[in-house]
Amino acid sequence: MSVATEIPRAEVPEVKEEEAERLHFQKVINAFRIYKKHSLNVIQRKENYLNQLPQEHQKLLKKNGYGSMLNDLKSAVDVNNEIVQHILKDIDNVFDNLTHQSKGEKDKRTMPNGADMEKVQSCLKQLVRDWSEAGIEERSACNKKITDKLAVLFKEEERESKKVLVPGAGLGRLAFDIAQMGFECQGNEFSLFMLFTSNFVLNKCTTINSFKIQPYIHNFCNNISDEDQLKTVHFPDVDPNQLPEDRKFSMAAGDFLEVYNEAEYVSSQDCVATCFFMDCAHNIVDFIQTIHKVLKPGGYWINLGPLLYHFSDMPGETSIEPSYDCVRGIIKDFGFEIMEEEKDIMTTYDQNPASMLQYSYKSVYFCAKKM
Ligand SMILES: C[S@@+](CC[C@H](N)C(=O)[O-])C[C@H]1O[C@@H](n2cnc3c(N)ncnc32)[C@H](O)[C@@H]1O
Repeated sequence: MSVATEIPRAEVPEVKEEEAERLHFQKVINAFRIYKKHSLNVIQRKENYLNQLPQEHQKLLKKNGYGSMLNDLKSAVDVNNEIVQHILKDIDNVFDNLTHQSKGEKDKRTMPNGADMEKVQSCLKQLVRDWSEAGIEERSACNKKITDKLAVLFKEEERESKKVLVPGAGLGRLAFDIAQMGFECQGNEFSLFMLFTSNFVLNKCTTINSFKIQPYIHNFCNNISDEDQLKTVHFPDVDPNQLPEDRKFSMAAGDFLEVYNEAEYVSSQDCVATCFFMDCAHNIVDFIQTIHKVLKPGGYWINLGPLLYHFSDMPGETSIEPSYDCVRGIIKDFGFEIMEEEKDIMTTYDQNPASMLQYSYKSVYFCAKKM
């Protein structure tokens, strides 16, 4: 089955917002388009510096593989760019109900910055987390906790009639796994980088492990060996098209708060599953309130993740950062009963397991019921 990415009616831009939406759309496309050029420029700068070093140093570095490593990185950029081209090829068909004519490629406002280029690189790493065998360990620590709970809460026979919403769905693997369990599932995501990439995986990757990327080539630090930086990862580890034709699975584009505060979503969901999402809010209370609103009475909220508040200390952004204890109190005040809770769940996010630098989160997991 093909997976439709919809822009819910509430999110289809008004005329006055259209210009800004179009410029943003074009900027994201441009970021994918210049991926190769940008990546090769970074390597070129290193080559230029290498060539300025004392001959003796150059000799030592090259004898020990540094020169050929830079060449290998350039070849790896080509490998990744093949995937980027696949993603770009299908962009015009991402949204069921919106078309964006390709205008404004040369408009200064559509020129990607460093942060945009990092987002393209993040999509490559997120392909590992969500859609590769190499990502199984990281995924098991996060998604499996949620799917195991869903399996306990809902019997197989009743799942077809149960709606599960996954806000902040990233590349959609958790939402896909939930749909595969038999539920009606909608992932929600607002990043066009993620939506373009998930559109490619969900609709175009039909043969297991038929595509490859070298996701860690942009990480120049903390590598023990060149092989670690050049590691090749195949995807997808499952065929995303294997869902039965009648299974209801979709991705909804747009801001969680804007889309799901619409009247049509009030008391509409049997479960909301959030994974590494709650800390994406400016005001986490807004997220809790919206989750409470979309759940049917008796519905469940299953959450796993840390509180790495995304907007904390971000220049020009507003943010509050309540502790988990405070958040927990607010959840109860909204009328949730916390049925199950675990702390200190060791989880990682887009981590290269071979790197000398390892970040891990002691994540919190809970299952709460709307009373
Ligand atoms: C840290 S990632 C987690 C992705 C995925 N759940 C996972 O565990 O791999 C958070 C995701 O939420 C998305 N996101 C953040 N705020 C959002 C919002 N207000 N509405 C919809 N998506 C949002 C981001 O674009 C990002 O893809």
